Amino acid sequence: MPEPSAHVVRPIDPDSADEIALVAARMKLTLIEVLGEREGGTLYTREWLEDRVRFHLDPERCQGRVFVAIAPGGEVSGHCIVRVEQDAAGREFGLFSTTYVAPEARRAGVAAALVARGEAWLREAGMREMETYTAESNTALIALFESRGYAVTLRVPDKRMVVLGRTLD
Ligand SMILES: CC(C)(COP(=O)(O)OP(=O)(O)OC[C@H]1O[C@@H](n2cnc3c(N)ncnc32)[C@H](O)[C@@H]1OP(=O)(O)O)[C@@H](O)C(=O)NCCC(=O)NCCS
Repeated sequence: MPEPSAHVVRPIDPDSADEIALVAARMKLTLIEVLGEREGGTLYTREWLEDRVRFHLDPERCQGRVFVAIAPGGEVSGHCIVRVEQDAAGREFGLFSTTYVAPEARRAGVAAALVARGEAWLREAGMREMETYTAESNTALIALFESRGYAVTLRVPDKRMVVLGRTLD
């Protein structure tokens, strides 16, 4: 298992079609892993997912960032996507839209490093309140965020989802 510090976290290269395509493909893998092949595998097209990555890189459409973790061998070991979001009342908060680490790189602190980087960027953007959401069965993701001081703030049983939140100091 590599040391966590061996993985470097940096913003995605916005000019790299390969990196954008890889993150989009892994967004699909996330959906399949969380929702199952039948639901997750058919929800969005490759084109839609790639545009979703580009959406987070386009300041005219979104105040967001896509961070990637790079393994010692140079391959992308994980990513997280964050953005400034508004709730119905207009309150702004920092949202972790998706966090994914390749199976062979898991339990080495890569996701923790990605989340720390996302939080630092959201803090710089003026956010203090952070949120993410996932399936209530996603124990790994829930444990990851709980280990960073998040707690479940909302359960949506009919969607089998939970919202996790944290206010930064
Ligand atoms: C959730 C996920 C991102 C975690 O990535 P990771 O790099 O393995 O996580 P880390 O090694 O940084 O874990 C940090 C801490 O989170 C918790 N954690 C992470 N994975 C866990 C698991 N499978 N079971 C229990 N706790 C877990 C632990 O507290 C861990 O610290 P420890 O290893 O010292 O015990 C990864 O499992 C993943 O990509 N899952 C599929 C995609 C997904 O579900 N994304 C979220 C969609 S909303």
